[in-house]
This record gives sequence, structure tokens and C-alpha cells, in this order.
Amino acid sequence: MSSGAADISTPYFLVDEGLLKKNLKILKDVQERAGCKILLAQKAFSMYYAYPLLREYLAGTTASGLYEARLGHEEFGGETHVFSPAYRQEEFEEILTYADDIVFNSPDQVRRYGRRAKEAGKAVGLRINPECSTQEGHAIYDPCAPGSRLGTTLDNFDEGILPLLDGLHFHTLCEQGADALEITVKAVEEKFGPYLSGMKWLNLGGGHHITRADYDVELLISIVRRLKEKYQVEIYLEPGEAVVLNAGFLVSSVLETVSNGIDIAILDTSAACHMPDVLEMPYRPPVRHSGQPGEKASTWRLAGPTCLAGDVIGDYSFDQPLKPGDPVIFEDMALYTMVKTNTFNGMALPSIVWRAEDGTKHLVKQFGYEDFKSRL
Ligand SMILES: Cc1ncc(COP(=O)(O)O)c(C=O)c1O
Repeated sequence: MSSGAADISTPYFLVDEGLLKKNLKILKDVQERAGCKILLAQKAFSMYYAYPLLREYLAGTTASGLYEARLGHEEFGGETHVFSPAYRQEEFEEILTYADDIVFNSPDQVRRYGRRAKEAGKAVGLRINPECSTQEGHAIYDPCAPGSRLGTTLDNFDEGILPLLDGLHFHTLCEQGADALEITVKAVEEKFGPYLSGMKWLNLGGGHHITRADYDVELLISIVRRLKEKYQVEIYLEPGEAVVLNAGFLVSSVLETVSNGIDIAILDTSAACHMPDVLEMPYRPPVRHSGQPGEKASTWRLAGPTCLAGDVIGDYSFDQPLKPGDPVIFEDMALYTMVKTNTFNGMALPSIVWRAEDGTKHLVKQFGYEDFKSRL
């Protein structure tokens, strides 16, 4: 379906082809110069309408389980990798029909499913936990935090499973630079170095903010090249955020304004339903043409229309007071948004819109009452 901008009612996610291509070109350049493969982590972005474009630049997808594996296999093609902290017996055979590489979280999972995966001709990997935290502030995104269930620590490593392993995988970063990767790789080599040489591949996970303006791409390339040469392994990266960083928007409108010690704009979009990371992480998303509170003439609290008192996106200032009907555009909203939306309070899901390089907009998907009802 194709539609002019005027026909599309807010709220909607707008993904921009030109901005996406800018990221994809950087990632392709890294693949070519470092000699590695980059997979899309679908958990961050599963808008499969864009997969034919992404496929021109990336080697395949990675999945968190059966559904993402199927989507990646059917809609993207290329290589399909899967990692799950624990697989379900009744799903495993179907996963084998979609996946090329299956990564397990523990030696017990390898013992339970690894042989079957090998019989089906799949590559088998183990996620390791180098116990090296390099991030501050967001403990819920730190797989190396004490007590983490994610990945096998050296203490829990079991050499008995080595004959079944083709690769090792680690994922420890979140929105980080190549300097954090360098520290992590050092810890991986110190702990698991003796096992690396026997592997066919090493997957460095996601969390690499490769397409951010200040990311040190040259350092990443030198780390990858060194690992490849030293251990004779193929290297995979599986970023999600970096693929769609700053390539999408959430376009909303002001429904009503109220005042209670501060001016408040009630929008037709909700933090709780449409951008849950704003509350979960938490963070303050960038809003077009806005400033910090007090920076511009008129300061407003942007809030959602649900019953949740805390459905607040943040405080921002604008040149003019907001009024019903005004557009409010949230930036960097392609990642971890569409995949996380919900219909709490019976909120409608935002439409999904594609803006092609020539500026035309296509309405990719619109949601209605049935999408709310059918889940309940
Ligand atoms: C195993 C794994 N791989 C890749 C990713 C993608 O990370 P990001 O979107 O931060 O690049 C994640 C994110 O949680 C992950 O858990």
C-alpha cells in the first residue's frame, strides 16, 4: 500500500531508507575491511519490510528463539543464527529447519541438544561469560553482572563438550565503543584463549555502536583482524541498534494540554505502550526542535494518554507553547520500539511507515481493534 503523508494519522513509526542506508554502508565497509560477517540482531528491529534492503549489506540475522529464527529464515535469508538461554524441547526440531548456527547457554544445554543439532548439519556454539563488566549505569543490560544467567563462566566450562563445539559466542556490551570491546576481548582471551584456536568461529555479540559518529571503526577492524589471524577463526558481529541507529522516528500529536505546577501535553503516544525503554532503561528520547527544560521559551512535560501516572516521556522546552494538534516527533525510534509495543489500556499500536529515498511515504502497516482483541 502506498500513501501520501497527509493520509497517515499519528502515531506512527517512520523508518527512513536514506538514513538506514547510511548505517548499512558503514557496516558493509567494516565487513569488507575487517573480513568478518555482520548479522542483524532481530530483537532490536524486525520490520521485515526492510529486510530486502538490509540483505544487500548484511550476512544474515540472529534470533532469540523460534519465531525470530523463522522470520529471519523466511524473510531475510543469508545465515540464520539463534541464541536462547534455554531451548524448549517441543520447538527444537522446528528451529533446526530454520537455523544454520545454534548457540547454547550452558554445557548442560549443549549436552541436551548439541548432538541432535550436529546430526542435522548445524554449527554448534556456546555462549561464554568472560565476567568482565565494562558498562556503568544500566545493570539490567549487563550480562556480566554478578549472578547473571547469561553465558558460561570459566568455572562452569566443561571441556567434555569441546568435540561438539564449532564456535564460541559472547555478548557483553550495550551501546558501547570499540574500547570496551578491546577490554572484553582481553578478558575472553585470558579466560578462554586455550579453547579459541580449536574453534571455527567466534561471535562478538551485539552492543557495538558502530554507526555512532564517534565510534572508533579502525580499532574495531584491528581487533577483528587480530583475532582472525591469531586463532584462525571466522568472526561474527551481531549488532541490532547500530543497524538502525537514528534511522527512525515516532511521529505523534498533542491531544490535550493540562497544567499542574508544570504545563503538560497529553500525546497520542505512550511511553508505556510505544517506547517502553523510556521507562525501563530509563532514558530521555530526543525530540525534534526541542531543548532541555527552560532552554527554550516554553517548557512542557510530554506524557501518554494511559492511566499509568508514570506514563511520562520527559520534560522538554519549545519555542512556542504546545496546543492540541501540534506534531511531536521523537527521534532514534527504530530500535527496540516496534518489537516492544503493547496494547495496555487498549492503546492502538502505532502504524509503520517507510520513507523511501525519494521522499515518498508508504504505509507499511496499520493496526486496529482486532490486534488488541486477538492477543487476549
Ligand atoms: C545475544 C545478543 N546479541 C545481540 C544483541 C544486540 O544488541 P544491540 O542491539 O545492543 O546491538 C543482544 C541484545 O540484547 C543480545 O542479547
